[in-house]
Amino acid sequence: MKQILVTGGAGFIGSHLTPQLLAAGWKVTVLDDLSSGNRAYVPMEADFIEQDVRDPGALAQVFASNDFEAVVHFAAQTMVPVSLAKPVYDCELNVVATVELLEQCRVHGVRKVVFASSAAVYGDNQNLPLRETEQTAPMSFYGLSKHTVERYLELYRQLHGLEYAALRFANVYGERQGDGGEGGVVSIFTRLLRQGCSLQLFGDGKQTRDFVYAGDVAAAVAASLASQVPSGTYNVSTGKQTSLLELIETMSRISGAKPQVVLDQPRAGDILHSALDSSRLQQYSGWRPQMPLEEGLRRTYGAVG
Ligand SMILES: NC(=O)c1ccc[n+]([C@@H]2O[C@H](COP(=O)([O-])OP(=O)(O)OC[C@H]3O[C@@H](n4cnc5c(N)ncnc54)[C@H](O)[C@@H]3O)[C@@H](O)[C@H]2O)c1
Repeated sequence: MKQILVTGGAGFIGSHLTPQLLAAGWKVTVLDDLSSGNRAYVPMEADFIEQDVRDPGALAQVFASNDFEAVVHFAAQTMVPVSLAKPVYDCELNVVATVELLEQCRVHGVRKVVFASSAAVYGDNQNLPLRETEQTAPMSFYGLSKHTVERYLELYRQLHGLEYAALRFANVYGERQGDGGEGGVVSIFTRLLRQGCSLQLFGDGKQTRDFVYAGDVAAAVAASLASQVPSGTYNVSTGKQTSLLELIETMSRISGAKPQVVLDQPRAGDILHSALDSSRLQQYSGWRPQMPLEEGLRRTYGAVG
């Protein structure tokens, strides 16, 4: 049985991924310090190691006592504002610990690494939907840390033959999402709608995002492990733009609530429109985003609270 390590696998997207990997026949080990993850999100069939990924000695032990064919790296500092307030912490976790992990992959002959990158690497580029060949210009240390790791991955491939897929996720939503990370707007609105609270929007609500369901993101990760998917960078997205006003309309219909919408000043640095073109991954792997937004929101709303 092929073994795979999933760092950060007790988190939101990890909770969608591990069952898919198990179903595909992988022997899964989840490594997570539970700082934002939940032990209950790790299926019983997977091995679980409660461990900070920043401890190189412990990481070396984990690799020495297993035989990983592949590694999915999700463990990260995931919040843009935290990266701006604590850039050193962001760099230690998102860059330095990742390089330690790549070293372990090199030493122990791991075949492929799948890395959770982000739309944040593009910055404010309005040539939508963005392709992977578009210019990158991160506007936060979070985006810079993800972009930096993409560069490390490419050089590890060139120097050491380590295969990789750097997957740039759009705004991921779905069951078990926390309020804090990227794309958290769906989980925040879900909680507020359940509590009968008003919804606060920064700007006029016409700003758009590319909302991709976590189950589809997990399927993209699983698909990118295949050897026919060449090393490189891939968008994971629907390519569709949904405005926050449209999102509220759909979520209100699902919940039966009629929330008051409060418009606030736009936030400095917020990108107006965002959408990524995922045809490259579709072409190489056959993966497609399957979940219609309304059905994904229905599942998300049904799962919370
Ligand atoms: N959610 C999104 O919209 C989105 C978009 C783009 C990229 N991503 C990336 O996808 C990955 C998964 O994100 P998520 O939304 O599931 O977030 P999440 O916070 O639910 O999951 C991250 C997991 O990593 C664990 N973790 C954090 N620090 C750790 C450490 N030092 N050692 C070990 N484990 C640690 C947490 O406990 C958590 O279980 C992250 O790398 C994130 O940057 C997410």
